[in-house]
Amino acid sequence: MPSKGKVIINLNQTIGTINPAVYGHFIEHLGRCIYPGIWVGENSETPNDKGLRRDVVEALGRISLPVMRWPGGCFADHYHWGDGVGPRGHRPVRVNITWGGEEPNAFGTDEFLYFCSRVGAEPYICLNVGSGSVSEASSWVEYCNYAGSSSYAQLRAEHGVKKPHHVRYWGVGNENWGCGGDFDPVYYAWEYRRYACFLKRVDPSIQLIACGHTTRDWNLRFMECLKDHIHLVDHLSIHHYFGGHGGDIDFTDEQYYSLLGSVQDLEYQLQQAIAVVDFFAEGRKDIGIIVDEWGTWYPQATVEKGLFQQNTVRDAILAASVLNLFNNYSRKVAMANLAQTVNVLQSLILTEGSQTVLTPTYHVFDMYKAHMGNTALAVDVDSPTIMELRPPTQRRARAQRVKKPMQALDISASLRRGENQLVLTLVNQHLTEEVETDIVLEGNLTVEKGEVTVLTAENVRAHNDFNAFNRVKPKHEGIEVSGKTFTYTAPAHSVNTLVIRLK
Ligand code: AHR
Repeated sequence: MPSKGKVIINLNQTIGTINPAVYGHFIEHLGRCIYPGIWVGENSETPNDKGLRRDVVEALGRISLPVMRWPGGCFADHYHWGDGVGPRGHRPVRVNITWGGEEPNAFGTDEFLYFCSRVGAEPYICLNVGSGSVSEASSWVEYCNYAGSSSYAQLRAEHGVKKPHHVRYWGVGNENWGCGGDFDPVYYAWEYRRYACFLKRVDPSIQLIACGHTTRDWNLRFMECLKDHIHLVDHLSIHHYFGGHGGDIDFTDEQYYSLLGSVQDLEYQLQQAIAVVDFFAEGRKDIGIIVDEWGTWYPQATVEKGLFQQNTVRDAILAASVLNLFNNYSRKVAMANLAQTVNVLQSLILTEGSQTVLTPTYHVFDMYKAHMGNTALAVDVDSPTIMELRPPTQRRARAQRVKKPMQALDISASLRRGENQLVLTLVNQHLTEEVETDIVLEGNLTVEKGEVTVLTAENVRAHNDFNAFNRVKPKHEGIEVSGKTFTYTAPAHSVNTLVIRLK
């Protein structure tokens, strides 16, 4: 007998618009992410488009990638953009002081912006606050966005692009509480004010992302200093890595559950960050939360190995649950960026020579793109409980809270209004039991027809590699649905996207 669950979706109870940017990504000059994951150079034997590997560009284009963050990460706070423009043969080679090795500067601003245009993503550039200057940051904005004939605009034209790029998103440093300069929140706040004040004069249309933290204290003290300059803050960023629950492909069943249970920590941190920005903004401005680095980070991903790790069905289930969380907080989550696209941490794509492998996580982004731009709906879920989760340890208690018991079903729903299309992403986290779920619609519309895409595998540790490219891949099928209630049985450890036509 399968376990039973019930989901009630009220078509009139909306949460917010799902910003497509929530399905964003992040690349850094780290390990094999950019070289050779994205950039192989024009003379490479790997098929390329002006130096960008064609297979990766095509795969990323297929998932409607909305936004890409670059150049870091920790790398951003020692990157000088001037090193990465102009004829490639004349660019300096620098030491990558964070991640080791040498940075050839072959992939710079123009290559990044060309890459974004090829994959259809909006660029998000992270500025150097830790070791840079306000004038360096201002001139970067001018180089990218200025429409007139200033020397930086002319330099851009000399490098082949006459029209401004209108780069909208700019991060004011990265993790400035750590690798980005070891600042304290008050010092960072003063620096932020200075940067923001000038950057917004270079281009008043840009949106700035302030470096926040997963600790409430940093965000409180930062926002306290900015409360009378609230017009300068558009978004506050937090980072969240899921680690410490076994290895990338070797983990126990208990570690499988504890990793998924830790999505609740991210939810708690989101709630804390939202409470802080809303408190200080006092309704004068809607400051968005941007989770501009997130994903799994296992012990295999060491600096020596360029943070490379494998990616299993467990990663797909985690990604799906996190994306459900972002949909369910779409009122405040303005963007999120999975770390880091190719060959680093929770990648979408792995490369070896001229070959690529799509990871289970890639498929989740493909399955979830149906939510982009939709209206998120409130869902009432009655799910079988899997287990109680252990309370936080003493050391971590401040950053966490007592957890809710872990449920098998994790869900988000959205409505594409013009097309009367309901999108339901349903994760069954139970390792061994399928869940027969009654789905009940409340509102004027009824179900006409539907189809489902399912991602799972016999073994939750299954992954794709260069010996088995498609061990884990989604299956599509039609489903029998009509009226206001229908039943869907979600296989054990699976991600399911149901696209339902309403009338
Ligand atoms: O994504 C790897 C690193 O993790 C980033 O450079 C840094 O911002 C974070 O600590």
